[in-house]
Amino acid sequence: MKAFHGTVIHSLTLGEIEILEDTLLVVADNGRIELVEPRVDRDEVPALLQARGMTTQNQDGDEGNIHYLARTQFLVPGFVDTHNHAPQWGMRGLGQGLHILDWLDRITFPHEARFADPAHARRVYGRCVAGFLQQGVTTASYYGSRHAAATDVLADVCFEQGQRALVGKCNMDRNAPDTYRDADTEESLRDTEACIAHVRAVDPEGRLLQYVLTPRFAITCTPELLRGLGDIAARSKKSANGTTGHDHPEGMAIQTHFNEAEQEMASTRALFPEFRDEVELYAHFGLLTPRTILAHCCYATDSELDRLMRLGCGVAHCPVSNMTVGGGFMAAPVRTFLDRGVPVGLGTDSGGGFSSSMLDAMRQAIVASNAREVQSKGQLKGLTIPEVFHLATLGGAKVCGLQNKVGTLEVGKEFDAILVNADPALPGVMTMVEEEDSLATVFEKFVMTGDDRNIEQVFVRGRLVKS
Ligand code: GUN
Ligand code: FE
Repeated sequence: MKAFHGTVIHSLTLGEIEILEDTLLVVADNGRIELVEPRVDRDEVPALLQARGMTTQNQDGDEGNIHYLARTQFLVPGFVDTHNHAPQWGMRGLGQGLHILDWLDRITFPHEARFADPAHARRVYGRCVAGFLQQGVTTASYYGSRHAAATDVLADVCFEQGQRALVGKCNMDRNAPDTYRDADTEESLRDTEACIAHVRAVDPEGRLLQYVLTPRFAITCTPELLRGLGDIAARSKKSANGTTGHDHPEGMAIQTHFNEAEQEMASTRALFPEFRDEVELYAHFGLLTPRTILAHCCYATDSELDRLMRLGCGVAHCPVSNMTVGGGFMAAPVRTFLDRGVPVGLGTDSGGGFSSSMLDAMRQAIVASNAREVQSKGQLKGLTIPEVFHLATLGGAKVCGLQNKVGTLEVGKEFDAILVNADPALPGVMTMVEEEDSLATVFEKFVMTGDDRNIEQVFVRGRLVKS
């Protein structure tokens, strides 16, 4: 058991943050939050914990398992990164400004091809997962490379380092170089089944890991491959019995790139002229379900939006890569998604774009939405700080199907959390906190100007994964 006493900040509904002062938060040994009680005097803490059967002193006689937070420290839910390419960790920042298909051919595919070597995967993925944990990403939805062995390594590394993750082998059986393509549809599907089995073997109860079906995008997948993956999703729904984290009533998670850029959309239309748009295409192959995470969605017609809402698909909004890689300045219509009830989370899309920070994703989401506000002559309002914070936490959890487990710091949820330290004496560049600042002001300063130096500790399922 562990306990914290101090400020807790989270967002239960879009646009609102709840600031709980002098809160006693208790985490049970199973990693679940057992108590969240605001307005408790510090002096009352030991007695309250003892009444719950918690020993409040360790052998040295100090209160070792109670963490009393300072005025500049507070707990927030861990960040949920809904779109992340683990094998791109070592190429972040490269090829900015290239159109998407050129960026894939010139920078990304040669780079990802190196993951044919599992030892290379071990080296890069170790750094990648540690790097995201350091920045407070407690859950990530990862695209692996196309290689089954390297993707198994990615699942192993997430589990070892204690990160909650959706992990998928990237499926791509055409329109990629011979050096980086699944040999054929059968191999692609066989490797997928093998990776699914590996993820289940590593974490049989699905406490941290889930498999996510990962057709890269329609351009690199034959219709047979898309159909085969849709069939796996349908079978997983039929066989789901809800007894483990792998058995979701809506079936296995699915992720792909969707309506990202004009070059990509034109190429998709040329390859699949029989479909009116990408919603029709992916729906035809059984790939649009309430477990689907659609990255980008920079363009969406009214009819596409209506259908996405009815299908229950979520959007991974990746504003940093949308404005730097892909071709053009793509500001996805996030306000419209929210108004229409389409679930939205934020993604770093690391390594597209220049940043692997969810704080940057939040800030850039504000920038992108401001651009949309101007473009729409004020009709689509820009996003606020509480809104982007919600998207980075509970919003992302919903998109990943994890809203009952994480995303807020409520009793019954698993303790995936960040201990923020905004002490101006720390090394760092966050806007300095002043004596007279309210907690809301300290929070705002952190979201807009803090970085991983202000992320003092990170917990996943109660386990300390950064200190
Ligand atoms: N579309 C297909 N693959 C990718 C990728 O790796 N990154 C981005 N941003 N778009 C893609
Ligand atoms: Fe991507």
